[in-house]
Amino acid sequence: MSALPALPLAPLTEDKTAEIRRALEGLEPAALWWLSGYTAALAAQADGAVRAPSAPAAREAAAQERLTVVYGSQTGNSKRLAEKLARDAESAGLAVRLLRADAYPQRELKNERQLAIVISTQGDGDPPDDARGFVEFLAGKRAPQLPDLKYSVLALGDSSYPQFCAIGRRLDARLAELGATRLAALAEADLDIDTVATPWLERTLGLAREALKASTPRAATVTPLRAVAQTHASEWTRERPFAAELLVNQRITARDGTRDVRHVELSLEGSGLAYEPGDALGVWPTNPPALVDAVLDVLHLDGETTVAQAGETRSLRDWLLGKRELTKLARPFVAAHAAQARAADLNRLLAPDRSSELGALLQSHQVVDLLRAYPAEWQAEEFVAALRPLTPRLYSIASSRKAVGDEVHLTVAKLEYEAFGHTHLGAASAFLAAREDGANVPVFLEANERFRLPRDGARDVIMIGPGTGVAPFRGFVQERAAVGARGRNWLFFGNPYFDRDFLYQLEWQAALKDGSLHRLDLAFSRDQAEKIYVQQRLRERGRELYDWLESGAHLYVCGDATRMAKDVHAALVDIAVEHGGKDREQAVEYVDALQQQGRYARDVY
Ligand SMILES: Cc1cc2nc3c(=O)[nH]c(=O)nc-3n(C[C@H](O)[C@H](O)[C@H](O)COP(=O)(O)OP(=O)(O)OC[C@H]3O[C@@H](n4cnc5c(N)ncnc54)[C@H](O)[C@@H]3O)c2cc1C
Ligand SMILES: Cc1cc2nc3c(=O)[nH]c(=O)nc-3n(C[C@H](O)[C@H](O)[C@H](O)COP(=O)(O)O)c2cc1C
Repeated sequence: MSALPALPLAPLTEDKTAEIRRALEGLEPAALWWLSGYTAALAAQADGAVRAPSAPAAREAAAQERLTVVYGSQTGNSKRLAEKLARDAESAGLAVRLLRADAYPQRELKNERQLAIVISTQGDGDPPDDARGFVEFLAGKRAPQLPDLKYSVLALGDSSYPQFCAIGRRLDARLAELGATRLAALAEADLDIDTVATPWLERTLGLAREALKASTPRAATVTPLRAVAQTHASEWTRERPFAAELLVNQRITARDGTRDVRHVELSLEGSGLAYEPGDALGVWPTNPPALVDAVLDVLHLDGETTVAQAGETRSLRDWLLGKRELTKLARPFVAAHAAQARAADLNRLLAPDRSSELGALLQSHQVVDLLRAYPAEWQAEEFVAALRPLTPRLYSIASSRKAVGDEVHLTVAKLEYEAFGHTHLGAASAFLAAREDGANVPVFLEANERFRLPRDGARDVIMIGPGTGVAPFRGFVQERAAVGARGRNWLFFGNPYFDRDFLYQLEWQAALKDGSLHRLDLAFSRDQAEKIYVQQRLRERGRELYDWLESGAHLYVCGDATRMAKDVHAALVDIAVEHGGKDREQAVEYVDALQQQGRYARDVY
């Protein structure tokens, strides 16, 4: 921010004025807006304290007049939509409060009158990390009856997962079971989120307006979140990505038989995009051109055919290159193709009792595999309509701005595998791996407030990041060195082979030498007869790890969600049993408490 204007006629002493000016110096507009809401809420609270007859009565009165929007989000989509709903409600003159699920005061639920929930499903039908407590509370015996509550749920998911929108479905059903009234029907958004989300947002807002009878416009209170909830303001967004110039694209694994992992450096110069360690970068890919050719070939369609869809006109080839998912298969396309191909066996897979078989098909096949296995005739326009819109992929940022300036670094594993007699590529990882120096990559920032270094630099940090999970920890170590954090840094890293895929080996060794990394524990699974993974190293170092946690360390896990993160979680519970003298239930509570305090954070995918 440029020079601060004077504070005219402020009802403050000169000292206080000077203090405030100092504190505001350099804050970005987003932080200033946030502060204005925060101070307004403080003022309202102070006012209320004088006038309100009692805190519970005041809570109830407030609840009757406002819409509460709660979100649970791992990668920012639900958060973005919840923020939009809160903003729109605010503009419509409604009183609204917006809360991340882990900041929701559970004891207030019974007073709540109007509740909108936006929540995604993660893992294998699991809640996002920030909503674990909220989901558990609602499912549990302590959840109150809610006869006065009116609610609506927007569930986010991905229909290529067998447990599509499981968490939203569960919350929607549970609230009804507790006696609450469903205002709008549960909405289930697939990766083409807006198709379902936009009408849900409009409907929910309309219903809230009716219910709250916004006759007297009033100042809305967007209750400040526990953690700072603002992303850095920049004109570049998911919908309007910045064209970042590629500076470096370097393979950092050996060429023989190991996974192709790239260290990618992009320039953010001139973008105003300012990330924090722990954030992710969104990348809009272009599908592999050879895959587009293969699809056109199988369907005997001409790539130059003009296709108009949802107000946009472009060639079929362009739709398939940049606007539609080809590498990820989803249920709606399977259904459409089964009908088109009159494939009864494919159609039968859509039955509710065959969801695990369908799940296996979705995970192992791309669109082109289905087209080859079940030949059908498609018209260009119908084919484009049946495919899901292309979505960006996220990559954990592997750098600190304090170390690399206007650059952003990524660690990208190229997805490439053989199936059905053809080589298959992942859209974004192959797109990045194929970019050459000077090429443009459309990017945006996805903030991750739950994956932040401790504000207190004296705290120790434990980082568990096998494979590409190591990416954010490169940023963490750079950041801690740059700010001179006094706490110790302990990294657990693993991959198949020491000599082929020890990512950033030289950097870690240099960091150990210069004191910016204090401990490094390695698990190379295939370097010996028995497989060794990071969770085994955690167990071996259990005593010290527990001591670090007891003295206030923050622990971070990044990487594979399906196995590694679960195994690491189990190892942490075991360590609390073995070294903390706890029984299993206490150990589970101990690890849960670490999570709730924000001292155990995960960035898993
Ligand atoms: C918060 C977050 C951070 C992330 N950080 C990183 C990171 O730092 N580095 C990184 O490399 N990735 C990271 N990822 C993963 C990344 O976003 C992409 O999912 C990954 O690169 C694959 O995307 P893609 O477009 O290349 O593949 P896609 O086009 O998305 O293809 C994936 C599909 O291929 C299929 N598939 C995959 N493997 C096989 C196989 N062996 N056999 C058959 N089918 C298969 C599956 O159906 C899968 O859905 C992160 C993800 C998230 C959510
Ligand atoms: C690791 C991982 C696991 C996921 N598991 C599921 C799932 O089991 N069911 C589902 O419907 N969606 C699943 N999804 C998709 C997300 O719900 C979807 O991307 C959603 O838009 C994310 O919203 P969020 O950014 O608010 O978390 C998964 C996504 C990731 C990255």
